Amino acid sequence: MNFNKAEFITSYGKLSQIPESDRPEFAFSGRSNVGKSSLINKIFNRKNMARVSSVPGKTVTINFFSVEDVYFVDLPGYGYANVSKGEKKGWGDLIGGYLADFDRDLELVFQLIDMRHAPSKDDIQMINYLIDNEIPFVIVLTKADKLKPTARKERMEAFKDEIPYFEDIHCIPFSAVTGEGVDDLKAIIEEIRED
Ligand code: GTP
Ligand code: MG
Repeated sequence: MNFNKAEFITSYGKLSQIPESDRPEFAFSGRSNVGKSSLINKIFNRKNMARVSSVPGKTVTINFFSVEDVYFVDLPGYGYANVSKGEKKGWGDLIGGYLADFDRDLELVFQLIDMRHAPSKDDIQMINYLIDNEIPFVIVLTKADKLKPTARKERMEAFKDEIPYFEDIHCIPFSAVTGEGVDDLKAIIEEIRED
């Protein structure tokens, strides 16, 4: 798959706007600011195709990108405190509605967790949702460049207690800065596409 041939398709602000699924989809889920858009840009080898911002809550729509016959879906970040109840509900409806649409050809969810911190309640809720609904997923531990080796080891140990079934879940340390993990992510996508 030529990841450099990615195209932005469109943004949807409402669940009802999202068309029926007609291609395999890979979705990227995680808290606001965890690095979803940065990761997508890294996979596509593009500077700012998925818009990255230091302002949390930037991606408030579901954004579809395509590479060849596959869609990449940038979900809105959840868990950003500084928004109105109405906005929160809007995002929840979008993410929840997308993930609950079992007619979609959803191949895999990349669940992003900031490697520096314990997962939030929302993160755990998301992981349990994926497990309970048998949605295939992997965990991507982001911002790996920000941790020194000792701290990184400590976080990896702590995740065993913090994340349900952590040791049974495929986990990929990732950094959009150093490029660590990007080849692993591409390999996972390619492998699923070849099946
Ligand atoms: P929302 O769209 O709000 O949900 O955020 P997002 O998950 O798309 O995060 P985004 O990619 O916009 O990144 C948020 C901030 O984290 C930006 O300032 C990025 O530059 C920074 N960032 C993302 N990935 C990394 C990384 O791997 N290492 C470092 N050091 N910073 C990163
Ligand atoms: Mg984003």
